[in-house]
Amino acid sequence: MTERTLILVKPDGVKRGLTGQILARVEAKGYSIAELKQLNASREVLAEHYAEHEGKPFYEPLVEFMLSGPIVAIVAEGHGVIPGFRSLAGTTDPTTAAPGTIRGDFGRDWGLKVQQNLVHGSDSVESAEREIGIWFGK
Ligand code: RTP
Ligand code: MG
Repeated sequence: MTERTLILVKPDGVKRGLTGQILARVEAKGYSIAELKQLNASREVLAEHYAEHEGKPFYEPLVEFMLSGPIVAIVAEGHGVIPGFRSLAGTTDPTTAAPGTIRGDFGRDWGLKVQQNLVHGSDSVESAEREIGIWFGK
């Protein structure tokens, strides 16, 4: 099967009207969009999605942030799309993420409790399959 990854445009990206520009970068890189929907996440879905971070200091603010508005969930496909999208996204902290990346070009520190960094991308084949199941069903 072609490699697949889960991309989320987080509430800050949707509110700022950046969904189209983010999708354009994914397409321009040559990946295809297999699934796409906008939704308001539930606490249950977020608890599953962020299970690895439960108990960390940023966990509660992260969940509150992800509940703060609509999210666009995307399944993107293509050889190497998992590391490829992580590379397009840039490093976690948008203040120092490299220019040319989504987080580096569009993100900044707003002085809020959690990093608002516009996008999520799966970090391994196992995470991708698990996360696609959470957001799109098996
Ligand atoms: P993501 O999972 O969203 O693609 O981002 P990531 O791998 O770069 O970052 P990760 O370590 O998995 O953390 C998940 C999300 O939690 C928020 N975060 N805030 N100290 C902080 O304020 C902090 N640390 C993490 C970010 O929204 C990060 O993307
Ligand atoms: Mg992560």
